Amino acid sequence: MATVAEHYAKHLGPIYLWMAGGPEVALQAGGAEIAALNLPLAAGAPVCDLGAGFGMHAIPLARRGARVTAIDTSAELLHTLTELGGDLPIKPVNDDLLAFRSHITEAPAAILCMGDTITHLPEFGAVESLIANAAATLPPGGLFIASFRDYSVPLIGDQRFIPLRSDDTRILTCFLEYEPKAVIVHDILHQRTSEGWQTRVSHYRKLRLSPEQLIASLQSNGFNVRREAGMRGMVRLVAQSV
Ligand SMILES: C[S@@+](CC[C@H](N)C(=O)[O-])C[C@H]1O[C@@H](n2cnc3c(N)ncnc32)[C@H](O)[C@@H]1O
Repeated sequence: MATVAEHYAKHLGPIYLWMAGGPEVALQAGGAEIAALNLPLAAGAPVCDLGAGFGMHAIPLARRGARVTAIDTSAELLHTLTELGGDLPIKPVNDDLLAFRSHITEAPAAILCMGDTITHLPEFGAVESLIANAAATLPPGGLFIASFRDYSVPLIGDQRFIPLRSDDTRILTCFLEYEPKAVIVHDILHQRTSEGWQTRVSHYRKLRLSPEQLIASLQSNGFNVRREAGMRGMVRLVAQSV
């Protein structure tokens, strides 16, 4: 089975922006989510975007005046972020998000981990370590925001086949296989080439993290937590350090 980093490097990274609808649609969606959050950020406020990808949230945040540290293990997606972000104040960092504290020099006003990134962590202990580090880094009133898919209730039968995107040249479908604490995500890509359709498959693990588990971990680290509906059926937690 591929590691998360390998899966993105070999399979998902090159088509991720296409999967999200292309730059215009994706940045509009990210911008709408940032607008809906209505974050109380002062001009120039430092913000960390963990698992920033191509900048779906980092770019709208920087357009609103934040100075963003965008961390991701995918060099390819960070390269796209740099191209799309232009002169915006975004520092791309190619590293594991768990090491975020070593890449900041001042306390961030907010830490974001959006778009089902937190479920990429290898086990619940890593989630707890991330929350503890966020609590230790944020000032009182600082925000930790995560959006993710709730895989705690398994889909069954045909529900496990999820069409992600298709057009004349590509069809991307995902298939979910459940383990007690994780879900194996199979990404199945059909791609039209000059020699006809080709199929490529790669799979990796995601955590079956329940919103209740994450809320409990945030509360035990001193956060007040609000739960909301996120984009595309995700759960969004907005946690404020007290
Ligand atoms: C599902 S994508 C979400 C990207 C972005 N936050 C968004 O909403 O579009 C997950 C991202 O997290 C990155 N990632 C996964 N595990 C990571 C880790 N441990 N450290 C840093 N980045 C990670 C992947 O490379 C990918 O860009």
